[in-house]
Amino acid sequence: MSTIQVTDISGLRGRVSLPGDKSISHRAVMISSIAEGKSSVSNLLDGLDCRATIDAFSNMGIVITQGSDKAYTIEGKGLRGLTEPRSDLYLGNSGTTMRLLLGMLAGSGFRAVLCGDDSLSKRPMKRVTSPLRLMGAKIEGGDDGNLAPLIINPGRLGPIEYDSPVASAQVKSAILLAGLYADGTTKVTEPYRSRDHTERMLRLFGADVTQERLSASVRGLDDSNLTSQRIVVPGDISSAAFFITLGIMADDSEIILTSCGINPTRTGILTVVERMGADVELTNQNNGFEPYADIVIKSSSLKATKVTEDEVPLLIDEIPLIALLGTAAEGTTVIEGCGELRVKETDRVNSIVTNLKAMGADIESEGDSIIIKGPCRLKGASAESFGDHRTAMMMVIAGSVAEGTTTVNDTECIATSFPDFMDTLRCLIP
Ligand code: S3P
Repeated sequence: MSTIQVTDISGLRGRVSLPGDKSISHRAVMISSIAEGKSSVSNLLDGLDCRATIDAFSNMGIVITQGSDKAYTIEGKGLRGLTEPRSDLYLGNSGTTMRLLLGMLAGSGFRAVLCGDDSLSKRPMKRVTSPLRLMGAKIEGGDDGNLAPLIINPGRLGPIEYDSPVASAQVKSAILLAGLYADGTTKVTEPYRSRDHTERMLRLFGADVTQERLSASVRGLDDSNLTSQRIVVPGDISSAAFFITLGIMADDSEIILTSCGINPTRTGILTVVERMGADVELTNQNNGFEPYADIVIKSSSLKATKVTEDEVPLLIDEIPLIALLGTAAEGTTVIEGCGELRVKETDRVNSIVTNLKAMGADIESEGDSIIIKGPCRLKGASAESFGDHRTAMMMVIAGSVAEGTTTVNDTECIATSFPDFMDTLRCLIP
């Protein structure tokens, strides 16, 4: 089990290039694989989760080759070109791969078994398998199709109009991807808006996708094909968020994060830190199929804020960091409606509260809310990742702004989404 030790750091300076966005990387591999012809994808995230997606598609007959560094070529075989996997599809820790693949394979016409590690085997899949069953998918699994391993048998899909009880891009994307194989228009409506990377990428590849405020629709492809593309994956704002937090909280710091994705369905973290009074500025903005910009961050003093339930999907993976920022803010920070955090790679409400409390923070959970009273100077402690990459990295950042030494245990999981995290941190230290 690897551990990381950190002490208080200040005076951070430098420019950081970010790993490719994880959500966009998964979708680039998946959609290129079912398009017709060779797609090229550069700055694809080289983390374990995206590796699971690449391995799954290689196992279904798609040739994926890595050229220089993070540039990949994916030889798409068309909507019906995937072949029955030679073995069970082992998806490691990756919830996104499992949920999106369920949708993509539900109408593909062959049998596939999807399985994963201990954490993934406990995560709820019914939210995806229930609407897919309504479309005609034949999926079996533990607890009536809720738990992996899940077996997909060949099924013929019809379109649905689905009101999702959760605001989840994974649920929405699974249904839209299945909708490509259905005869007619499939529509998903959510209680709050979630990230729209699937809609943007499907449109880029030529699918007929429409979006309203809380709904997205796709028209089935009727055996026509998506067309291959050249894609540059922007930097991951969820990875940037660790350094946004550090740059704000560490004394005497100014850092620049280059070419970071700023899709408005992902920038909740920027809205919240600005509301807290942080000095964060966007420069060099570009509008591709996904917008991106450089982010300049300076040390700042913070005031407390309230994060409301409708904002949660726009910053779902950054909540551990907002809790950490709350410890440094004047007043009481409340993060409402974050019950979804309990079904992530680990119960993140528990991991946030347990770890930050051990560092002396005044933090509690109440129902689906997290309440942090600040400001409080954190003290070094021994922290647990609970096998969760985002918890491990949040605690390294917490230790970097705390008095004394912090030890973060069980940190191999960082490779899930940000293998170069520690090297990136080291290059900012004076
Ligand atoms: C993701 C959506 C989010 C997020 C996850 C990636 C995606 O999950 O937490 O890390 O790529 O669609 P939910 O949509 O289930 O909230």
